[in-house]
Amino acid sequence: MASWVQSVLVVLAMVLFPTTIESKVWHYKFNVVMKNMTRLCESKPIVTINGKFPGPTLYAREDDRVIVRVVNKVPHNITIHWHGVRQLRTGWSDGPAYITQCPIQTNQSYLYKFNVTGQRGTLLWHAHITWLRATVHGAIVILPKHGVPYPFPKPDHEKIIVLGEWWKSDADDVMNQWVQTGMPPNVSDAHTINGYPGPTPGCSSSGFTLHVEAGKTYLLRIINAALNEDVFFKIAKHEFTVVEVDACYVKPFKTDTIYTAPGQTTNVLLTADQKSGKYLMAISPFMDTIVAVDNQTAIATLRYKTTKPYTPLTLTTLPATNATPATNSFIESLRSLNSPKYPALVPLKIDHSLFFVVGVGVDPCSTCVNGSRVVAGINNVTFVMPDTALLQAHYFNTSGVFTDDFPGNPVTPYNYTGSGPTNIQTTNGTKVYRLAYNSTVQVVIQGNGIIAPESHPIHLHGFNFFVVAKGLGNYDPVNDPKKFNLVDPVERNTLTVPTAGWIVIRFKADNPGVWFLHCHLEVHTTWGLKMAFLVDNGNGPNESIIPPPKDLPTC
Ligand code: C2O
Repeated sequence: MASWVQSVLVVLAMVLFPTTIESKVWHYKFNVVMKNMTRLCESKPIVTINGKFPGPTLYAREDDRVIVRVVNKVPHNITIHWHGVRQLRTGWSDGPAYITQCPIQTNQSYLYKFNVTGQRGTLLWHAHITWLRATVHGAIVILPKHGVPYPFPKPDHEKIIVLGEWWKSDADDVMNQWVQTGMPPNVSDAHTINGYPGPTPGCSSSGFTLHVEAGKTYLLRIINAALNEDVFFKIAKHEFTVVEVDACYVKPFKTDTIYTAPGQTTNVLLTADQKSGKYLMAISPFMDTIVAVDNQTAIATLRYKTTKPYTPLTLTTLPATNATPATNSFIESLRSLNSPKYPALVPLKIDHSLFFVVGVGVDPCSTCVNGSRVVAGINNVTFVMPDTALLQAHYFNTSGVFTDDFPGNPVTPYNYTGSGPTNIQTTNGTKVYRLAYNSTVQVVIQGNGIIAPESHPIHLHGFNFFVVAKGLGNYDPVNDPKKFNLVDPVERNTLTVPTAGWIVIRFKADNPGVWFLHCHLEVHTTWGLKMAFLVDNGNGPNESIIPPPKDLPTC
């Protein structure tokens, strides 16, 4: 056949059958290396991937396969979690240390292998051991399949914006303050936008600049990789159209303020509709209770290409730190796209109806300052990390690592947001909640008011969930279900339980494995606000977890 005929046929095939093009394998190499970084006019060595902070962006296309070789060259154990990647049957590549795998030790490596099936949008990857994710994190961009357009106007350009927190001291040393003293660890010294705090009192370093061209539209992929703080994100004189969260499309809505919790991703369209100039881009913390936060605003600049030198920066004001209404209006605007192509498959019949009370408590500690330490838990259980991985213990039927008696409801009910229980001591345990393959689950996640009521961004591994309701005070099992949105609730993997309030999530346990659920404020995870679901295999290999890879690290 003449080669031009061949080319024509190939092009024709691509036009006619765009989705039949074989899916691709994306290979990445993540070298875990120390790197000296200067921020806030001080230098320190940090753990990085390939010497970058934030780390490299991982690109893939919906349904593609991703293989990441992680080589550990630092004196810390490490694991990487592909936050929000469902890991369908590939739980060995999920990453939380001691949940799905033993950590990769110094001078060892591990191949993470997974498919990004049925997902498109922006996600986060981060270290999932101690507090290393402070500096070990980055973006995952899952593009739609070839020939499949976005369900919103095509942007001219796409930009990644990673938000973070910076400590002048080593983040793991900060965590260890709590281990030693029992007291809450220090808040960060700055927030960062794409790795830079911008000018701060006493240190006039410049921050990140986003260069734009007047009249063009940008898709901003905003990733909150902060450790312990929810933030507001704003750009002076510009409005955003939110189109996707946590790699799930939403009904587009306009806002000038993004509210985002650690672990969440938000895709927005921004039109550069000013003529020229420099505009403040900033993040500031949200906290509506008496808990200390880092109140440094991180500053970056949106700059038009035509801007003349010495043009002053156009400023804006961010919401107050305790601006609860701004968080509510943002969350309540989020609705699944629920189109014929992207339906919202909300489970309507529920097999397991669970009630998780989340919050902090105390635990005796003889070496601590006050003879006790602040801890956190779910249904009064403070999760104790095992010293081998739960998924291995499950797969190989090793007894003595965990028990499957995690309480699906509070053992001793009390007035959760009111006077509280008489005894605020939690119990310790490594407990999982067992689910049959394909069973449907509803979890009411109720915040409590012990010590201080506080909001908690709850993250679930292995699944997206639908947020069918949210409210304040104690959940009312009689009247609140009448208000459930079972039509177009937002689908995501992390959502904040409001201070002294509750949310209701639903998901289908169609992914066998052991799946972590925890507060994505790292400080609360450290304190024990975590548990795991164990989803049994279904029938046959297609409903079962794959066998463990040969290079799976050992403890
Ligand atoms: Cu992004 Cu288990 O966390």
